[in-house]
Amino acid sequence: MEIFSIKGSLGCSSIYVGEHLKNLGNYLPDARTVIITDENIKKIYEKDFPNLPVITIGTGEGIKTLASVEFILKELIRHSCDRSSFIIGIGGGIVSDITGFAASIFLRGIKFGFVSTSLLSQVDASVGGKNGVNLDAYKNMVGVFNQPEFVICDIDLLQTLPGVEISNGFAEIVKHALICDKTLFEFIENNRENAKALDYQTIYKLVAECVRIKSTVVQQDEKESGERRKLNFGHTIGHAIEKIERAGHGRAVSMGMVAAARFSGQRNLISEKEISRIISLLQDLNLPTTFDYSPKAIISAAGKDKKKQGKDLFYVFLEMIGRARVEKISFLELNEFISGLA
Ligand code: GLY
Repeated sequence: MEIFSIKGSLGCSSIYVGEHLKNLGNYLPDARTVIITDENIKKIYEKDFPNLPVITIGTGEGIKTLASVEFILKELIRHSCDRSSFIIGIGGGIVSDITGFAASIFLRGIKFGFVSTSLLSQVDASVGGKNGVNLDAYKNMVGVFNQPEFVICDIDLLQTLPGVEISNGFAEIVKHALICDKTLFEFIENNRENAKALDYQTIYKLVAECVRIKSTVVQQDEKESGERRKLNFGHTIGHAIEKIERAGHGRAVSMGMVAAARFSGQRNLISEKEISRIISLLQDLNLPTTFDYSPKAIISAAGKDKKKQGKDLFYVFLEMIGRARVEKISFLELNEFISGLA
């Protein structure tokens, strides 16, 4: 097991890569504790949960709403939770986003932790203290920065994930490599078959490397006013695609990363050879690299990005594999690029 930590503004968060759900009890406080999970995870893993009250929510991006948060808050009251209570979210990114948000606003904030059960949440969503929900067409529009007390990344839990969920996680792994770790990119290239076969040592290394990268970035810039923006590589167009086709997050980010790499190429940053290498790796990991939505639809959906600042937005470009740069560009410039994709 490897332990990483993030010292956030409100406290320290420990991330345990390679720890197991069955040891969760060792990390829980003596206080009243409630589990939040989703229907799928409950069905498969409830037998391994500690003996505690369980609040169950549905599955899918559509559940990431204020209505789900209200449901949870009412359940916490029903379970007589108070300021000393603790909430543990057991699930993927949707469970951790909602759990962290509900815990952060219940009685002005109680402590919480996660057992992260999907590859995507282990390498990204559950780490770094972003918690929140969507509002209408606006993704992650309402939320808070607040670090969990701990995150357990149990690699064994990934064995029951559908293939499409594994590839969603691979997209965020490739993203981490592209923005700041060329050696990790080469490792993925050389171990792609082992990764797809869910070889324990390979997946363990990928999760640990991504948590190392993410915790280092978040430590420098918890509230995303600088370095953390790089973690949004591929997400501007990716989020737009996610809205249009309701593709899984990682699949949409894969298409968004290829578009962002091409945009970088147009600006004479990354070379064509490196762009081809990125596309080839993503394709080998069963991720989509092209899309045929109309530029108009993408431009309209991208305009709903919460990170836009008036007529401008921060866009993440690639200088090369393993090095990213953030630039403020106008929506006009982005729209011109998207129009040229047709
Ligand atoms: N997923 C991007 C971030 O946590 O900042």
